[in-house]
Amino acid sequence: MAPWSLSFVLLLASYAVASNSSATISTVSASAINSSTPVTSSTASLGSTSSMSTANMSTSGVATSVSTTSSMTSYLATETGPLTLPISQYSFTPFPTPTLAPEPPIFPATDPLYPPPVSADPVVVPDFAPAWAAAYTKAISMISNFTIQQKVNITTGVGWANGLCVGNTPPVGDFPGLCLQDSPLGVRDTDFVTSFPAGITTASTWNRALMRARGLAIGQENRMKGVNVALGPMMNMGRIAQGGRNWEGFGADPFLSGEAAYETILGLQAGGVQATAKHYINNEQEWKRTQESSNVDDRTQHEIYAHPFMRSVMAGVSSVMCSYNLVNDTYACNNNKTLNDIMKREFGFQGFIQSDWAATMDSLSPVTGLDMTMPGDVTFSSGTSYFGQNLTDMVMNGTISMQRLDDMATRIISAWYFLHQDEGYPNVTVSSFNFYSPLNREVNAQSDHYLIVREIGAAGTVLLKNEGALPLYKPKSIVLVGSDAAPPVSGPNEYSDQGGDPTGILAMGWGSGTDNFTYLVSPYEAIQARARVDQTSVFWNFNDWNLANAGNSVIDIEAAIVFVNSDSGEGYITVDGNAGDRKNLTAWHQGDELILAVAAQNNNTIVVINSVGPLIIEPWVDHPNVTAIVWANLGGNEAGNSITDILYGAWNPSGKLPYTIAKSPMDYPAQLVTGGTAADILSINYTEGLFIDYRWFDAQNITPRYEFGFGLSYTTFEYSNLAITTILPADYAQMDLVQNWENGGATPIAEGSTTALWLHMPAYKVTFNVKNTGTLYGGEIPQLYIHHPPSAGEPPSVLKGFTNVEVSPGQTTSVSITLSRYDLSIWDVVRQGWAKPGGTITFSVGASSRDFRLSGTVPS
Ligand code: BGC
Repeated sequence: MAPWSLSFVLLLASYAVASNSSATISTVSASAINSSTPVTSSTASLGSTSSMSTANMSTSGVATSVSTTSSMTSYLATETGPLTLPISQYSFTPFPTPTLAPEPPIFPATDPLYPPPVSADPVVVPDFAPAWAAAYTKAISMISNFTIQQKVNITTGVGWANGLCVGNTPPVGDFPGLCLQDSPLGVRDTDFVTSFPAGITTASTWNRALMRARGLAIGQENRMKGVNVALGPMMNMGRIAQGGRNWEGFGADPFLSGEAAYETILGLQAGGVQATAKHYINNEQEWKRTQESSNVDDRTQHEIYAHPFMRSVMAGVSSVMCSYNLVNDTYACNNNKTLNDIMKREFGFQGFIQSDWAATMDSLSPVTGLDMTMPGDVTFSSGTSYFGQNLTDMVMNGTISMQRLDDMATRIISAWYFLHQDEGYPNVTVSSFNFYSPLNREVNAQSDHYLIVREIGAAGTVLLKNEGALPLYKPKSIVLVGSDAAPPVSGPNEYSDQGGDPTGILAMGWGSGTDNFTYLVSPYEAIQARARVDQTSVFWNFNDWNLANAGNSVIDIEAAIVFVNSDSGEGYITVDGNAGDRKNLTAWHQGDELILAVAAQNNNTIVVINSVGPLIIEPWVDHPNVTAIVWANLGGNEAGNSITDILYGAWNPSGKLPYTIAKSPMDYPAQLVTGGTAADILSINYTEGLFIDYRWFDAQNITPRYEFGFGLSYTTFEYSNLAITTILPADYAQMDLVQNWENGGATPIAEGSTTALWLHMPAYKVTFNVKNTGTLYGGEIPQLYIHHPPSAGEPPSVLKGFTNVEVSPGQTTSVSITLSRYDLSIWDVVRQGWAKPGGTITFSVGASSRDFRLSGTVPS
């Protein structure tokens, strides 16, 4: 039972067809770097001596005619040793062309401010190509008279802490420059903004409308504060359960993460801000994040880690942030394969790639696809830059082609036009490095977004166990045990970037993925207010450390609610020995012992958990006195209200786990890699390949405690009447590619081949019924898993669809989940394309990755 109507989230920006631009896309012939001429330089002479000269750079007197041939030959030093850059292998095409003319209503030409309306079963594939083309035309015209230095200035941040935002580019001509600001859950480092539930909570809703609504609200707050580029969403995969930043992202399945990224970006950009898909790619742990090489095979890269980024490109994302780590021994921001070949060529990405903060490692990174260096300096406040004067010099001496520089500047300015930020965009009113600046309070951006926060907090809570304890019904007495029930002792922002041992409710993790709480509702405040309605006696004991006292405080109370948490964050802050990543998977503050102490004295012990990720809960999960377990994730500033809505049944739980909760840490397929010296590059070999999270448990026959996709309700659902129909494609230009795929052919090696609209158009429609067989109104998340034939080498089950329904008691509703050809494809390494595996593909529909209710066969 939703406390508020869902309708407000459906009142999202309505679909509008962008004017079909007649602009043609300029094509520039393959540049001089597309030659076999070896390019040379040495990093030792780059960047380290030239001072940054972006902000006040002179705009005149620069030669515009440059030689594009260079005969110098040597090696480029990288942190992993000398590597030759495979520049000549990539045919540089500066302005990707759209893959297909729009085919309404399947591929409507879409302006990012007016995305298609959200749907629980999306069938529309928006085509942003015309909007990009129009933006490119304007950008090309704007930079046509710019000097080399001006173009370089567009690509080079002004240096750490040299502007109002965490990243800033300077004004150049009529281009006002950009404000780039964290975080994925709200506007960081300012005031009068909302703290939304974290990504992991949002993913746990499995509800596209809520994902979109959250994105839109965050986008609106960014716009009101004058932020041009929001540094989110974050879509790393949660490969390691201890991964410090997993909570910023959307869980351990690429499909779920991809849908959350897609909806979040459509929402953010409908709000007016440019979104950033980060951290590209394989940034899966914090320990030595700048000195680890994630070694990943090509198929795993495509099917698992790159997928959410591909969905981001399909959502028209403006920017992509390359990550700190190395990928297969080359830095991610200097990686021709991941930047040029996968992101720009296969995905046809038309926006710009920015570095993570100080993740640029080389002045030649533009050649491998990097478009902007952030925050601009080599290391924070070094006063030097790999771009800036170095880039100017390299363009002037022909090492980097003018076409590439034009392309970089064009991409950045196009993204700004693409979001219409040239049309009266608000001034920046955040002051990141001075919280007390009045600027931070000049604009109140909060609106009524607390409603969305509260709803997502409840919808993103997962009920794991319930033996009749919940919902609470007029209890005579309750006791709240544990500091996680309380307001933080020194206020909601007791630590900078939330980077400290929590003394109260944990509502977000720590690091750059945070914002400042304008306020924070604790469970103690919310539950006490709700309990007054029933005149319930309310007691509490927030001391985690005195177990005897905790036990005694719950004797003879009708319900004992124990609150525990587990925190993690970004590696630049270490909390209680957790250097970003979690050092173990147990609850903080001896949470296990606290629960056992309470359960020993009270036979109605309800456990509420605020956690950044999975915990091992074996010590108490089966304790007969533990009557309910509520997995509340990280709720943002309404956390206490959301938990109260669940406990009292104002919201019937519908959340599902976005990862597996194992019985033992060693059951997970991959572990944190630690160790190494200051000089080492750690090798992290992704030997589990496609088998992350539930895919591993299924393949290895390991029984988890709670499987991926699991979550209970206060009611029950029955599934029936499964059918699958083929959706015949309309006869249009790319029919031959459809036919080729049907016949087992792989997608062609071409620009935009992976995001080609024909590949993602609806191909099969699965329908079935869901009946509410209980007594309470409630929501269910039906999930669809594909089972490929064994010869395909895929995990036993892979999530390829989900939807959300709300049903009244006794009622039945008809449900559909649409599949595309892409959804059935696997990445063929030899042919370098997506192809349908030979053999019979079957599927199951059900309530979790292990609770299949119906199954069928995909028509061949
Ligand atoms: C983080 C990014 C963040 C950036 C700017 C980096 O340390 O990895 O996620 O956007 O800082 O604050």
